[in-house]
Amino acid sequence: MNNRRVIVKVPASTANLGPGFDTLGMALSLFAWIEMSVPQTGGTTFEFFGDGMDCLPRDKSNLLYKVAQLVFEEAGAEVPELAIAMYSEIPLARGLGSSASAIVGALAAANALIGSPLSPMKLFQIATELEGHPDNVGASLFGGIVVSAWDGEEAQYARIEPPKRLEALVAIPAFELLTEKARHALPSAVSMADAVYNVGRSSLLVAALAGGELELIRHAMKDRLHQPYRAALIPGMAEILERAADFGALGAALSGAGPTLIAFVDAASGEKAQLESFLKATLAKEGIEAETLWLAPCLSGPEITVEETQSAGTGAERRLTLLDRIRGEVKA
Ligand code: HSE
Repeated sequence: MNNRRVIVKVPASTANLGPGFDTLGMALSLFAWIEMSVPQTGGTTFEFFGDGMDCLPRDKSNLLYKVAQLVFEEAGAEVPELAIAMYSEIPLARGLGSSASAIVGALAAANALIGSPLSPMKLFQIATELEGHPDNVGASLFGGIVVSAWDGEEAQYARIEPPKRLEALVAIPAFELLTEKARHALPSAVSMADAVYNVGRSSLLVAALAGGELELIRHAMKDRLHQPYRAALIPGMAEILERAADFGALGAALSGAGPTLIAFVDAASGEKAQLESFLKATLAKEGIEAETLWLAPCLSGPEITVEETQSAGTGAERRLTLLDRIRGEVKA
């Protein structure tokens, strides 16, 4: 009987960074925790903590359960019953990679539960296939800034250490926007001129981030492939992207498929308060309530804790929930 209990702490992510549609991602210091163990008696159980988690399925159709089974299948292991718990501070359907974090967290937890037979690169392939693009999952899996490419069969990536002074401000609107809807807003073809425009900006952005040339970011974080088409879904977005630099941002973008907006700043900037007020006021003018958070880039992927215990799940003492175990680290 497997007596391991695994807890994985996995970061949120922002994808695209403006011009790098489906290609660039950065891990952010906002987290989800997933606990997995094999129940000593009985069947599969789920425990969810955190806002918006009540709607998640508590049967074997659950994404975390299904992702874990993919790992076991790939590794030739049989673990049909699982005790799964999750706490997340990453808001759902807001463009901060909550589903990618759940996928990466479940892959890492299931892999650790059976002794980590699958390599991080293998987990990246599975995660990319599940998510349909590599940008968010790459960032959550490898931390830092991740440049990735996927041809539908195989994903490749290169990781960049974020510049030390880089900090992000996110404005998270109170409404949800499903990625599927935001992808439907995109055209099926773009002009050569727009493609060239984005290749230039995206390449410049990667070079600027790799070389710590923060002043280049404002020229590089411009996009013609997705943001112009998605702007109608997020009132206030166009104005924020156009004017954020006037309020001290190094650059601004739609975070992933939105609706969250992200602005990068030099952590030592004296203009942080005015930038935050500008973002909040611009969205408020459109009747959109938004929460703002200052987030540092997260430099690593999943942090995995494995406990070998005889008493896992026996209920001999008061059972500690996932939230009890991670208290002190989380906002709840
Ligand atoms: N690159 C993706 C998109 C990220 O913009 O649709 C969101 O999942």
